[in-house]
Amino acid sequence: MTIIKTNEFILRPIILSDADSFFESMKDVETIKNFTSTPKTLSEAKLDIAKMIEKSKLKVSEPFAIQVEGKYAGYVIIEYQNWNPKNDTGRVHICIHPDFRGKGLATKVLVEITNYGFTAYKFKKIIAQCKATNEGVAKANAKAGFKLDKIVKVDGIDKMAWIKENPFIKTR
Ligand SMILES: CC(C)(COP(=O)(O)OP(=O)(O)OC[C@H]1O[C@@H](n2cnc3c(N)ncnc32)[C@H](O)[C@@H]1OP(=O)(O)O)[C@@H](O)C(=O)NCCC(=O)NCCS
Repeated sequence: MTIIKTNEFILRPIILSDADSFFESMKDVETIKNFTSTPKTLSEAKLDIAKMIEKSKLKVSEPFAIQVEGKYAGYVIIEYQNWNPKNDTGRVHICIHPDFRGKGLATKVLVEITNYGFTAYKFKKIIAQCKATNEGVAKANAKAGFKLDKIVKVDGIDKMAWIKENPFIKTR
């Protein structure tokens, strides 16, 4: 079980008892606007966390709770693209709890988690995808070293595909 400690936050494995705070942040209006689907009840939120934990047991995905001063401040996931461990491309997902937004947390967590992905998983690149309308995460991605690659349509919705290359590996 990996735990990543910095001066401002800790990344530790997400657990079922994070469900209340996780649900709080998933039912927030901004979150609902920016996600394709969100849990509607606490039970659904618990199920989402259980699925994250299940995938982590398969070693294809690592879901972390972001903890600030002992409190749940969001989650971040680093995983193999398409959950295929043969893939040298990683994928990241993030959601910051409303109480902790607007403080630079997403940017710092994205820097930390991508460094971890590049070193522990040796990913050549890491992809982040978000709705084309999601200004907040677009800014955080750019500040964390991602470059906007293209706009793709996923299930009829325009999404920005961001890529961060492993700075330690020459890819071409
Ligand atoms: C989007 C999100 C991750 C940003 O988290 P955060 O910790 O507030 O982001 P940061 O503080 O690192 O902000 C980075 C930059 O984006 C800007 N920003 C943050 N939220 C913004 C918003 N909603 N609209 C416009 N700009 C925004 C910040 O002002 C900052 O810019 P600055 O340095 O020029 O001031 C957070 O609001 C969130 O989790 N939202 C809901 C879920 C979501 O959208 N997840 C991503 C789905 S793919």
